[in-house]
This record gives sequence, C-alpha cells and structure tokens, in this order.
Amino acid sequence: MTTTETPDSGTEEEKPWHLSGNNAPIFDEATVTELEVKGSIPTELKGRYFRNGANPQSGTSDHWFLGDGMVHGVELSDGKANWYRNRYVRTPMFDNPDKDRMELYLDMEKMGFNYEVSVANTAVLGHGGKIYALEEGSFPYEISKEVDTIGCHDYDGKLLTAMTAHPKVCGETGELLMFGYSSLEPYLVYHRVNAAGELVQSEEITVGGPTMMHDFTVTRNHSIFLDLPAIFDMEMAMAGGMPIRWSDDYPSRFGVMPRAGTDADVKWFEVDPCYVFHTLNSYEDGDDVVVNGCRLREIWRESSEIAVSDDPDPADAPMMWEWRFNMKTGAVSERQIDDRGTEFPRVPDSLVGLQNRYGYCLSMGDGGVGESGANVKYDLANGGSAEIHNYPTGHFPGEPSFVPAAGATNEDDGYLMTYVYAGDTDTSYLVILDASNVSADPIAEIHIPRRVPTGFHGTWIGDS
Ligand SMILES: [Fe+2]
Repeated sequence: MTTTETPDSGTEEEKPWHLSGNNAPIFDEATVTELEVKGSIPTELKGRYFRNGANPQSGTSDHWFLGDGMVHGVELSDGKANWYRNRYVRTPMFDNPDKDRMELYLDMEKMGFNYEVSVANTAVLGHGGKIYALEEGSFPYEISKEVDTIGCHDYDGKLLTAMTAHPKVCGETGELLMFGYSSLEPYLVYHRVNAAGELVQSEEITVGGPTMMHDFTVTRNHSIFLDLPAIFDMEMAMAGGMPIRWSDDYPSRFGVMPRAGTDADVKWFEVDPCYVFHTLNSYEDGDDVVVNGCRLREIWRESSEIAVSDDPDPADAPMMWEWRFNMKTGAVSERQIDDRGTEFPRVPDSLVGLQNRYGYCLSMGDGGVGESGANVKYDLANGGSAEIHNYPTGHFPGEPSFVPAAGATNEDDGYLMTYVYAGDTDTSYLVILDASNVSADPIAEIHIPRRVPTGFHGTWIGDS
C-alpha cells in the first residue's frame, strides 16, 4: 500500500459538499486481495470493473469536477474476486500539485492549450485493446489492467484537440466516435477512430459559441452534437473554478450529421431550452432520429456551483426525456418519459446507436437522495415504466454498468455493476445485480474493507 500524507482540508462543517462524507477524497493507493464475497460471483465474469472519479490529492478542489483522477478497479475470474486496486492517474496535474491548472494548460507558444495537462478523472474507456482514463479538456491517459498509468495517448500525433470523456463505441462496428470542444476556436472538432484504434477523420463543426459539450450520441448512421446554452465565461475563468454559465440568449440545438460527414452535412434541430449532461442512447426509427437522455431545464445561471439542498425543487432534477428529429421534414418533438430524478444512464455497449428497450440509471429522486440510493431500470417499450433496486438505508450506489450474460437471448440478460457506499460501516462494495430482475436481492456483493469515494463513470472490460 502506498500512503501519501493526508492533507488537512478543514473540519467536516467547513467543507463543501463535494469534499464531505463519501465525496471526500482518500489519499492512499491500496491493493486488497482478500475480499469478502456475499452471494455468488457468476463464473462467466472474467475481466475488470473500473470506475473513475475526482479525488484531489491536495484534499481540496474548487469544484466537484476538478479533482485529480483516481480509478478504482476490481478483477473477477472463475467466480472469484482477485483484487481491488485504487490508483491516481499520473498526469502533469498530479505531478505538479502546487501549480494552477491554467498555468500548465496554457501553451503561450502556440497560443492554445497543452492537452497533455489533464486530471483524467471522469470516465474509463476500453477501445482497440487499450484502456483509457478520460477527461474532456485533455488527451486520454492510457492505464493498465492493474490500474497503473501508462501515459498520455494522442493517436500517433493525429489528435490535435481535447477528447470528450464520453466518446461512443459503435455497438456494431467497434468504431469510436468522439469530439473535442474548446473555449477557443475551433469550438468543436469531431473525430472518428476505427476499431483498430487509428484516428481516421477530424472535422471542425460550427456551433454557436464556446459551449460546454459534456456528451454526445450516435445512431447507426449519424453522430449527434448537443449545442446547449452552458457557455464558457472568461470572467469566471480568470476567477478560477468552473468557467461555465447559463445563457438565455443561446439557442438549444441538436446537430445530426452522417457519421463520416462534414460540417456542411449537419442538420440542426432547435429544442426547448435545456442542458443534458448525459444521453442514454440514440437510434433511428424510420425518418426519425430518436435521442433519449437526462434533461435539466437549466444549469448554472448564477454560478457553476452545483447546489445541494435538503429540499430541492423536483423540477430542477434531471429527468429521462425523448427528442425526435425528423430528418425529412425537420420536425422536432420532445417529451418527458418520467418525473423521477435520474442520471448516469447506461445501455448495453452492444446497443450503442441501436434501438434499446431498457435503460439503467442512478436514481436522484425517490429514494435516490437522502437516506439511501437506488438504481432504476426503464422499460421504454412499456411507457418508460421503471423497476427499482432500493439499497439498504445509508447505502448509496453509482452509475450501473451493464454486463451481458453469456448466451444472452434477451436484451436484459446480464448483470448491473456499480460500487455502493455503505454508510453504516464506512466501507464500499461492488454489487452485481440481475439486470433481468433488478429489484431482486443482489447476485453478489464484493466487499472492500475501505470506502470507494463517490465518483463519475465506470465500465466493465471483459477479457474476451
Ligand atoms: Fe459524464
């Protein structure tokens, strides 16, 4: 176990919510091979679950999104949990903890940014036989199966922009569709990477301004950009923290482009004002392109602080939504699917870009915040009805990652995995739920004798 000095970041009362409770960082890197298992780990699960999150090594950060990346992994094989490991991603930010990000990030020589400067804290991607830790302002960082940092990856020098933390791997072809956005022009550049991991296309895309584009989405034939009114603000940038603010003057638009298309091919569709951190999935239905995602009516009007309230307005919660864009007529329709607050939506990797029936989320509403958390399974073929897995009091799950069962015949034949924080013991466990029977007791819990702090996105990377 590697232990670094534990910084003093103030008393519990003084700390902002994103540094308190299980959001607080941990400071050591552990390898734990004796893991208590409750239930039975399916023997077909051979591989590793990785989850990334912001874990500031200084003990403090100005915003939930800004801490150093720490990846937490668990390896499973032959019905056993072989290890749990947590490792910081070694980036220039990690190596220079006393330096301001902008000091390292600004490259005055080329009047741009140094995309090697990253905290690599947002998501984990498996593609082309490699594993990456991702953060949307920078190049990806390759990590090993044992969660050690290999180094920055720029696609043989071909990637000249940042790379989103939410690229999409086509469920059919293995192609990686992605983009980089920037506060400087060009504000948006689209990239295509083939299944072997070679960057084969980069295209500048015209958007209305320097918008924060956290996610995008794809169908079998299209890539879809979310040009939404969360705009880079230079004044806020100079003051530090997250330099993004809501604009009432900036239209909310989705841009639909053939996957190998160019800027001139983008069809733009204006929608009601909103922000979408995460899409669930998209697919084609006749002449319609259908997008599902977790819609917020707005974000960050006064500041980019994420307000946490004991008595939140339910209308401020992210809610599952559907947008339909008719590629022939240009018509737009949109509707709310559920009034429950849900986020961190996932579908099976094999269905990215194809019509999915089910979607799996973290519940932010009923049972989702407060005394315990829940995972939700939406059935979109059944009016968006929801099946809930409620966790015990004081237990909080994260984003549920879907893992297909061997020989699956139905879309939901498989497992859901996420770390759950158990407040009663101040420890965590990796839960394995039956995706076809989400409300049932877990199939297995792999108990980690320490807590895994709240994080962002995870993924299962199987050996096959
Ligand atoms: Fe995200």
